[in-house]
Amino acid sequence: MIALLGTLWAFLSIVRAFNAEEQQTFNHAKSFEEYTNQSLLWAPYRSNSYFGIRPRNIDNTPFIFGLMWFESTKLDSLTRLRHYANIDDHLEKFSWEVYDPRLGGMQTIIDTENNVNLTIYFTKSHDGKNWVARVHGEAIDETLPSASSVVLYMNQNVGADVNSISRLDEMPSTDLNKLEFAGFSTELGDYKVLIRDNYGKYFSNDSVPNMEVVPGCDSSKTKHVSLTVPDHEVWRARDVFQSILADSIQSAIAEVGETNVNQAYNPSFLTLRNIHNFPPGNFHYIQKTFSSTESFEFDVIYNSMDSKENIRGQNEVNKLIDDSLNEVRIKFDKKFNINSKDEEKHKFALETLSNLLGGIGYFHGNQIIDRATVFDEDQFEQIKLENGEEEGPFSLFSTVPSRGFFPRGFYWDAGFEILQVMEYDFDLAFELISSWFSMIDDDGWVAREVILGPEARSRVPPEFVVQSPNIANPPTLLLAFSEMLTRAIENFDSLKFENSDLSSESHYSFHSSTSQLKTHPHLLTSYGEKIYPKLLKHFNWFTESQKGSLEDYYEVLEDQDMLDQIHKDTIYHWVGRTVTHCLPSGLDDYPRAQPPDTAELNVDTLSWVGVMARSMKKIAHVLKLEDDESKFEKIEQEVIENLDLLHWSEEHGCYCDVTLDDEYEDDIQLVCHEGYVSLMPFALKLIPNDPKKLNKLVSLMSDPEKIFSDYGLLSLSKQDEYFGKDENYWRGPIWMNINYLCLDALKHYFPEVREHAENLEQSQAGLLYTKLKKNLINNVYNVWKNQGSVYENYSPIDGRGTGSSQFTGWTSLIVNLLGHF
Ligand SMILES: *[C@@H]1O[C@H](CO)[C@@H](O)[C@H](O)[C@H]1NC(C)=O
Ligand SMILES: *[C@@H]1O[C@H](CO)[C@@H](O)[C@H](O)[C@H]1NC(C)=O
Ligand SMILES: *[C@@H]1O[C@H](CO)[C@@H](O)[C@H](O)[C@H]1NC(C)=O
Repeated sequence: MIALLGTLWAFLSIVRAFNAEEQQTFNHAKSFEEYTNQSLLWAPYRSNSYFGIRPRNIDNTPFIFGLMWFESTKLDSLTRLRHYANIDDHLEKFSWEVYDPRLGGMQTIIDTENNVNLTIYFTKSHDGKNWVARVHGEAIDETLPSASSVVLYMNQNVGADVNSISRLDEMPSTDLNKLEFAGFSTELGDYKVLIRDNYGKYFSNDSVPNMEVVPGCDSSKTKHVSLTVPDHEVWRARDVFQSILADSIQSAIAEVGETNVNQAYNPSFLTLRNIHNFPPGNFHYIQKTFSSTESFEFDVIYNSMDSKENIRGQNEVNKLIDDSLNEVRIKFDKKFNINSKDEEKHKFALETLSNLLGGIGYFHGNQIIDRATVFDEDQFEQIKLENGEEEGPFSLFSTVPSRGFFPRGFYWDAGFEILQVMEYDFDLAFELISSWFSMIDDDGWVAREVILGPEARSRVPPEFVVQSPNIANPPTLLLAFSEMLTRAIENFDSLKFENSDLSSESHYSFHSSTSQLKTHPHLLTSYGEKIYPKLLKHFNWFTESQKGSLEDYYEVLEDQDMLDQIHKDTIYHWVGRTVTHCLPSGLDDYPRAQPPDTAELNVDTLSWVGVMARSMKKIAHVLKLEDDESKFEKIEQEVIENLDLLHWSEEHGCYCDVTLDDEYEDDIQLVCHEGYVSLMPFALKLIPNDPKKLNKLVSLMSDPEKIFSDYGLLSLSKQDEYFGKDENYWRGPIWMNINYLCLDALKHYFPEVREHAENLEQSQAGLLYTKLKKNLINNVYNVWKNQGSVYENYSPIDGRGTGSSQFTGWTSLIVNLLGHF
């Protein structure tokens, strides 16, 4: 496993003798990396929790921080203890309203069941080494007698070294409302953590003289318990807390006598004490129980001892928070042209992008992979992956589709997510994509879901944990990478004529541009050179593993005089489909040929190969690899020709899967289910500029009896026999990713759309583009207003948000549609 993060500089530093240009590239690479490492070191990278912090690229001895809370006036309150972001908690809201991992931001949490409204701020010092988490809370209904119990935990991991000197100790203090800890990590160095109250009233009940129900259980005081938790169990902080607390409650109740339990003490029973006399260790719980009658606020401040910019007073924190919120807003407005007079829409767009960025996580650990199970191509029952073994450790820096439901990296989603991120922060998009490329293994395979370590695994249904190197997924990352390269090159060409002295910019401050790669594309091309062999492997793996066979069709193709025209090596299908599902395609239950057959050929698999070939062609062009460029150009061309020769249905006016006819065994049958699969060659810009075909597809997309709706393009035509049936995942619901591609393709194929012609509505394509874009924006926005979040998909009947809520993965492409299209 070659670590690719950080290889940019390493790679450049081995260039033998620097000429001036190389020296300049080297300087830029170094400062680019320094700035990247610094500004992205700390953030709430534990995407799966409501608020959890860990550093990026610190794998052995990271400092881990987490936040939990519950309302504690009832003894059964623990069932409502919040920790992992989970849509089953039915929070009214948990949402980053403003956020950028380099700068910080603000998250709002509305938890009605617990009667608490939390505002969590995160910000950093300019050198990126120190940070603050500020937690502000208030009751939603202050007339309701309630107690907000907030539990923080933190740990200094010790790493693999048995003689580890990494530690985190409480420092002597007389003031419980100002706890200080001294830490040391072999990777992070010396640091201090300060937990300081700004205001708030600890809970007490006037009906009893004081709150100490038994020694150590007192809701009117900050509680602190320290113990040792092994590194690999720290993610279970919630379970550990619950189990120690349960023991404490039991013994406290026994102590006062079951019949004497006074409800007034409930919040005290529910405070943690060191009932088992654990000796102090690197792990710390801090619990504060606030009365709902007043709002409360406290700061958690992490200061690195080798920084000159330590964060101290409350005013300084106020200013840092204000500055970072402002900076994110300014950066956002610079990148997206969204009318700030329409305040609600502006808020919607900023919040949606912030949640995409707020989902960015840093994951480290082992992946479970089954390399032993052999796929029997002749059977289409679900294949059980029972030979999974741990491999790794790997690291992944990635966005996630949704924090509350899919808090991990998905290969098929990532490319779309990066298309959105790159319009806001080009260099951040580069960090994300290069991390994904580092997951390409020696065979060229990347897992469909990257699930690293037990913490990530705990959120995955068991049948999806084990990954198989036989299974592919749409290679959206290549789509995104080729887009980035094109953008950087175009940008560079336009810069060349400006007299910019790049070499003088040897140092970048914290506030520097986050499009360095765009303004210095030689950095990106150097990276391209480094990564090219891996991408090549990936291409080869995909095309070899998903290759189809024409043999069964030879006779009929010969009869039709077509055998010679078809490129026999350029046909594909998804390996691993079952009777009902084709998970590898990403479009799980979209109808396919019935019954399944080994001879089946999938139009979307072929289309994705076309995208890969085109991307490889572009990369080869940038790297001046002429032979490869023409090789991939040829493959792309073959894909385009085969799409028309094999997959086009004149009768349906769209592209279709192909299988053997089940009545006349040796005949070709086109399996046409109008919807996303039949649009894929169009969406991915793979049809020749053939006005007849284009018009047919535009008609299909414009037909309200089939795919068009007031809310976006339907995944499956209303007239299809499978529309809305069974699981109904990709059988009608509207998905943003394919809609986005279709809009982009309309721009690509129709100059009037691209050039925003005056009377755009007069052409069918122009009308479709205008209406579709408007419908998508209005519907996603209205659902956000009415249902409180963006969704995984949208109902084809009434546009309602369906599937997972808070789906700020690819649905956030709406921000590009609003402000950059
Ligand atoms: C940035 O971080 C990576 C990963 O930890 C490391 O390999 C690299 O040397 C760092 N680069 C600089 C310039 O500090
Ligand atoms: C939550 O608190 C914030 C900050 O005080 C406030 O602006 C907002 O209106 C509150 N929301 C609810 C639902 O209580
Ligand atoms: C105080 O305790 C009494 C029971 O003794 C209870 O009825 C009341 O709701 C409590 N008040 C608060 C604010 O929890």
